Amino acid sequence: MFTFTDLPELRARVRAWKIEGLRVGFVPTMGNLHAGHMALIDLAREHADRVVASVFVNPTQFGPNEDFSRYPRTLDADAAGLAAHDCDALFAPTVATMYPYGTGNEVKVQVPDITTILDGAHRPGHFDGVATVVARLFNMVQPDVAVFGQKDYQQLQVISRLVRDLAFPIEIVAAPTVRADDGLALSSRNQYLSPAEREVAPTIHATLLSMREGVRGGRTLAAVEAAATARLVAAGFAVDYATIRRADLGAPADHTRTGLVALIAARLGNTRLIDNLLLD
Ligand code: PAF
Repeated sequence: MFTFTDLPELRARVRAWKIEGLRVGFVPTMGNLHAGHMALIDLAREHADRVVASVFVNPTQFGPNEDFSRYPRTLDADAAGLAAHDCDALFAPTVATMYPYGTGNEVKVQVPDITTILDGAHRPGHFDGVATVVARLFNMVQPDVAVFGQKDYQQLQVISRLVRDLAFPIEIVAAPTVRADDGLALSSRNQYLSPAEREVAPTIHATLLSMREGVRGGRTLAAVEAAATARLVAAGFAVDYATIRRADLGAPADHTRTGLVALIAARLGNTRLIDNLLLD
């Protein structure tokens, strides 16, 4: 596996692959890779001849009181895992490479509307940071196809809008969420959970399943949301939202039964977890 920290070497390698007529896939990550990330690599491989992964803990997508400084940085283990998984190249840029003018003074990419609801409302500026770094990464790697996890459902919508609106010639592929046996969606943040919190955390997925049953059973969406919130609160969560939206994240009319997604963001102690379930 090639490992690049600098842009010219990465670009030369990708250019050489493209001259050979090879299709390049890309999986952007913030590192601390787990089986969920490896599933993204596998899916990228299905859509491309060569796969590039990036590891960059992006400072601009963390709020001032969020976990940027404690976010786990495990580059050596990540590189070994990617190599063992037949990833072709790792791009691990420095902050100076990603933000040559520094953070705070960078050109920002701002996707309207869907970035200010749900996680965008609870994490102001988060999706500006995501859109900004992903646009940079796309320009640096210049992939033909990029894979994003469906677990970050709103992020996936933001990236899809970004790619379409700015006419990036990149196909976006959504990867199904990888779960532990008890239903908990895999996430680097799960390791912040205490053993007692880890026991409770699968309640999020169980609640999403009960939201799906509620919708299928004909309950009003408002009643389903209220029951979900109550269940999570009873289990010890502080709930940011437990909501049902249209697949494009717009607010559905209450009689809507198709094209829906249930989304939850809730905190257990200091750990914020998100998950979602397509209801069709
Ligand atoms: O999903 C993530 O890990 C990050 O938001 C991403 C897409 C790598 C941008 O920093």
